Amino acid sequence: MELASGTKIHQKICNITKLSSSIGLFIGPFFSPLIYDSENVSQLIKSENHMQEKATQYKFIRSLVDRSILIDSGLSYRESKRILLDAVSHANLKEYLISFNSNTRNLVDDLSSKVGGTEFNLEIDLSFCIISILIDTIMGLDASIMTRDEIILFAKELDNSLNYISSRIHRAWLYPDFLYKFSNLFKLSNQSRMYLRNFCGKLIAAREKKFQSSNQKGVKTARTVFIDKYFVSKRDDGSEFSIDNITDDVLSLIGAGFDTTVISLGFVIIMLAINQDVQKKVFQEITEKLKGNNRYLDTKDLNELHYLDQVIYETWRLYPPLPVLGRLATKDIDLANGGYLEKGTNLWIFVMKLHRDPTFYPDPDRFNPENFLPERVKERPSEVYMPFGFGTRKCFGNIFAKLVIKTILCHLLRNYQFHTTKTEEDFQLALEVTLKNKSGIPVSIVSRENIEIS
Ligand code: HEM
Repeated sequence: MELASGTKIHQKICNITKLSSSIGLFIGPFFSPLIYDSENVSQLIKSENHMQEKATQYKFIRSLVDRSILIDSGLSYRESKRILLDAVSHANLKEYLISFNSNTRNLVDDLSSKVGGTEFNLEIDLSFCIISILIDTIMGLDASIMTRDEIILFAKELDNSLNYISSRIHRAWLYPDFLYKFSNLFKLSNQSRMYLRNFCGKLIAAREKKFQSSNQKGVKTARTVFIDKYFVSKRDDGSEFSIDNITDDVLSLIGAGFDTTVISLGFVIIMLAINQDVQKKVFQEITEKLKGNNRYLDTKDLNELHYLDQVIYETWRLYPPLPVLGRLATKDIDLANGGYLEKGTNLWIFVMKLHRDPTFYPDPDRFNPENFLPERVKERPSEVYMPFGFGTRKCFGNIFAKLVIKTILCHLLRNYQFHTTKTEEDFQLALEVTLKNKSGIPVSIVSRENIEIS
């Protein structure tokens, strides 16, 4: 069953937005303005206090989780954030790099069988690597406690769930719960929910066992495993966290970190494969700064790679993993042109279009990493670039994401050169909850024989 109408929706929106600087559109039964001109976006950001609630359509995420840091506000949001922030804290990030490096080494090994072969879709290998990293870092477990097939199925079901949520957003007649419950979408969504929650339940049980046994033996770990906090903390009302509460938070965090990271890596790699001159420059930087050595990378190494940063930022500009951000106005909000949005309006910031404003980028649809030279960045207002969102609800996994993406790209590029027969015209973009490229990540790889593998 083909559920994704996102590709058509992306084309329609791009056609309409050529005609007007900011449009109103209906999503489901709600009047939902789509805003992407820089003046209005700047104005909205000034009123951020009145738009911290997520758009009503996001509530469909509850088909997967009952509570979620991604959409909740108030008490339950603060309660989850207090614990989840630890998962991506600076102190932990240093330790996480060990996991980023070792899991990427496995990815490099797995890909060796594809060297010199025909074009293949890199998405499954990347998904496996990212889920393994998230299990290791967030859950404090070696991903090998699950089989490769189980992990790949988990990644697939996560992807399916997002697809089901998008499908409901795009179908007004499925908004009322009583109608949705009779739909095939509900059945499919429930199957995914069960698989995902069972998978997380097994991981939580395994971690709790490990935690109790380390406690009994008085063993101290090098890093705080955030999930352990649930076993010893109380909720704000004094009760204990239930397995369902923990599953909700784990699934929300993995859900937030998985798809966005795989999408980022996919677009960067395919853009490098299309733009061989840029790939050559990135490779030169890596070999010069890291002395061609295939050792584990630390934050100092990664912070040296400025051109690689430019390439990643430029890819996020053209292909932001979250292309639209939906908020609910909790007060009347003034717009730049003298108009205003009424309290209760669901508004959508079209980040992907905002990022292609010719005022700030002379040739806005062209991939050009020079757009992120420090002097060029200084010329633009900071709020016209928001791959990680804005304000208080901005992504707090951004440093984690940047480090993991750079580690993976470095190891891959030190070992392989990526090629593709495709161009940007072949991309089949779909606006789902995240930005999907339905044509996958079709690449072939060539070994860099001159690099010594330690
Ligand atoms: C390149 C990868 C990533 C991108 C592009 C990204 C992007 C975003 C964006 C745009 C938002 C704001 C959503 C909104 O305003 O509606 C967000 C929120 C969030 N992200 Fe990320 N994200 C990435 C990776 C991660 C990772 C790796 C984690 C955690 C491990 C994470 C955790 C979160 C959380 C918990 C929120 C909700 C924050 C809140 O509402 O207070 N993200 N992300």
